[in-house]
Amino acid sequence: MSFDEPDAPASVPHPRGIRSYVRRAGRTTVGQAKAIEALGPQYLLPYRPETVDLAQAFGRDAPTILEIGFGMGEATAHIAALMPEQNFLCCEVHPPGVGALLKRIGEQGLSNIRIVEHDAVEVLDRMLPEASLAGVHIFFPDPWHKARHNKRRLVQPPFVTKLLRCLRGGGYIHCATDWEPYAVQMLEVLAAQPALRNTAEGFAPRPEYRPLTKFENRGIRLGHGVWDVVFEKL
Ligand SMILES: C[S@@+](CC[C@H](N)C(=O)[O-])C[C@H]1O[C@@H](n2cnc3c(N)ncnc32)[C@H](O)[C@@H]1O
Repeated sequence: MSFDEPDAPASVPHPRGIRSYVRRAGRTTVGQAKAIEALGPQYLLPYRPETVDLAQAFGRDAPTILEIGFGMGEATAHIAALMPEQNFLCCEVHPPGVGALLKRIGEQGLSNIRIVEHDAVEVLDRMLPEASLAGVHIFFPDPWHKARHNKRRLVQPPFVTKLLRCLRGGGYIHCATDWEPYAVQMLEVLAAQPALRNTAEGFAPRPEYRPLTKFENRGIRLGHGVWDVVFEKL
């Protein structure tokens, strides 16, 4: 399950590297716009290039999981409802997705999610304190199938170094993808980090908290594979 990738131009200049996303077209629905208006002030955390106080942002001190690229927020809302004792800091650059997750927050009465509508790489670099995260979820990141676009993939050594700064000891990184070459890359990149240990031998069984979304179900029906990778910080 991957969203369309544009053929060109692939490289949008970025001050600190190459972006892992393109701004996709897509309209915010009336329902999503209403959710943004009603719930945005409470649940949107504006991006600022300064360290954020997570306890203040969530109104409580609790273990915080960072989700990068939540899409329309289907898995996010499911997991946040399943784990009310955890805080979920969720980054997405696609405005309709932000509206969709806010709508779910309203419908499901979730209080443990905060959304940053911004590039997660900058959020990691500029906003998050050292050792502030108990976990990181990266579900179906843009696969960037073509060889010349592979450099835009999120899960690469410099990005993992950024994650490791923000992750506390015992914290985990959970990635999932339906694109096998990227799954292999995830495994290799994470296994190469001496500060991480694989929780499985190779690919991990899907942790129960990660739901099968409708895209994934469709993929499975079509015979496509999905790979989970779960590493823990030593
Ligand atoms: C293929 S979609 C998967 C969405 C969702 N995780 C799912 O499983 O349905 C990848 C998402 O990651 C977002 N994304 C990619 N790079 C990002 C970044 N650096 N910061 C925040 N979001 C990003 C994209 O906008 C897109 O919505």
